[in-house]
This record gives sequence, structure tokens and C-alpha cells, in this order.
Amino acid sequence: MSEQNGLPSHIAIIMDGNGRWASNRGLARVRGHIEGVKSVREITEECARRHIEQLTLYAFSSENWSRPRFEVAILMRLLRRYLIRELKTIMNNNIRFTVIGRIEGLPEDVQKEIATEIELSKNNTGMILCLALNYGGRTEIVDAARRLAQKVQEGKLRPEDINEETLKENMYTAGMRDPDLLIRTGGEMRVSNFLLWEISYTELWVTPVYWPDFRKEQLEEALRDYAARERRYGGILQ
Ligand code: FPP
Repeated sequence: MSEQNGLPSHIAIIMDGNGRWASNRGLARVRGHIEGVKSVREITEECARRHIEQLTLYAFSSENWSRPRFEVAILMRLLRRYLIRELKTIMNNNIRFTVIGRIEGLPEDVQKEIATEIELSKNNTGMILCLALNYGGRTEIVDAARRLAQKVQEGKLRPEDINEETLKENMYTAGMRDPDLLIRTGGEMRVSNFLLWEISYTELWVTPVYWPDFRKEQLEEALRDYAARERRYGGILQ
């Protein structure tokens, strides 16, 4: 069993609804992102407190580049500021920070903060906080296929040795557990190119609550619902 006391080991979250949260209040969309960072902090601390093994947050998708330039710039600035300011939260909570996605496509100053955060937190032994940045689920599979092809070309791998395990080992998420629970805020019933390979057997939980309003109480509700489910992984319960 991957879970303890009915708690998921790995929680992944699609943090949606920042823009709508702000528009509903007559505010600029970026105000929703700013408020969303507070939810990131609260949910991270709460998951660490509950000894969740890994929390993966969809912070910036490869499709998000198509947003207005101003909004993309603000998101990158927020991200950089978040990395600098939240180092304290990360260290105080014994969290190990990591990322998935095409990190080389991010602005250099953001890449630098990411590298610092990873380095400073690498010996922490508590929860893994993984930010998906410039991440796309299909791109992840394409990148894994390329790596495998490269290994075949170099004679390090035979085509017949490619299986689910070798593919997994070449994903951004190599060495990580698959998520047990995927939460989506903002009410849309979509997966939006997030962790396509990894969520094959993940339990889904969608709430209409917008991300800036998603706090401890809402997480508690998702966890309660998750604990009551029966996971069969395609089999039948004995
Ligand atoms: C979706 O809201 C949210 C995002 C684009 C990513 C989430 C970003 C944050 C929580 C802030 C920055 C994160 C970190 C970790 C610093 P939306 O704009 O799509 O909302 P909408 O669907 O209502 O338009």
C-alpha cells in the first residue's frame, strides 16, 4: 500500500481560477495570482505538517506562454519572488524542493533561483515540494522518447528493452511515486496536459472553489473524500 492512515502519499494540484477570483472582485487578474501564492504557502505547510511525501503543483504550463505578455512577465516575477521569499518556509518545514518541466526555457534569473533552492534544500528529509514549470504532459513523454532514442542510437539500450519501467526512468518524474490524488480547483473537468503518464490510476477531486480560496479547510475536505474511496487499480476488491 502506498498510503498511511488513508492519506495520499503524493498529492498533485492543478491550481486554477486565479483570474476568475480576481475578476469577480473587479480586480486585475494578476491580483488573483498574488493571492494564489498565499494558498501555495498554506497548502504546502499543511501537507508537510500531515507528512505527505510529495506535493506537486502545476505552477506554469507550456501553454501558459500564450497569455498576454504582461501576465506572463508578472507570473515569472511572482515565481522568482516566491522562490526567494519561501526559502524560509521550505527550510523551516524540512522540505526538499524540486521541479519538473523544460526548465531551460524559463528566464535565466528564475533558473538561477530554482538551482539555489534545490541545492540549499537537498539534504532536507521531509516532504518533496515539486513545482511543474514550463511543463506539458505530452512534451514530457516526447522528451522521454527522445532520451530513449538517443540511448538506442548510442548502443546503450536495445529497442526490445524499452518498457514501462525504462520509459518511466526517462520521464521528468523518474524516481517519484505516481500521484495518489489529483486536485483541480476552479471547477473545470479537465486534466489540461498535466502528468498524463503519471495519473493513470490517480483519484481525481475537482472543486468549484478558486485557487486563492483553496486553503486548509478545502484540503481537509479533499482528504476526507479520498480516504473514503476504494482504490482497485483495475482489479477487484478481495
Ligand atoms: C491558473 O489561474 C493559475 C496559473 C496560471 C498558475 C498558478 C499560479 C500561481 C498560484 C501563482 C504563482 C505560483 C507560484 C508557485 C509562485 P488562471 O489564471 O488560469 O485562472 P482562470 O481560469 O480563472 O483564468
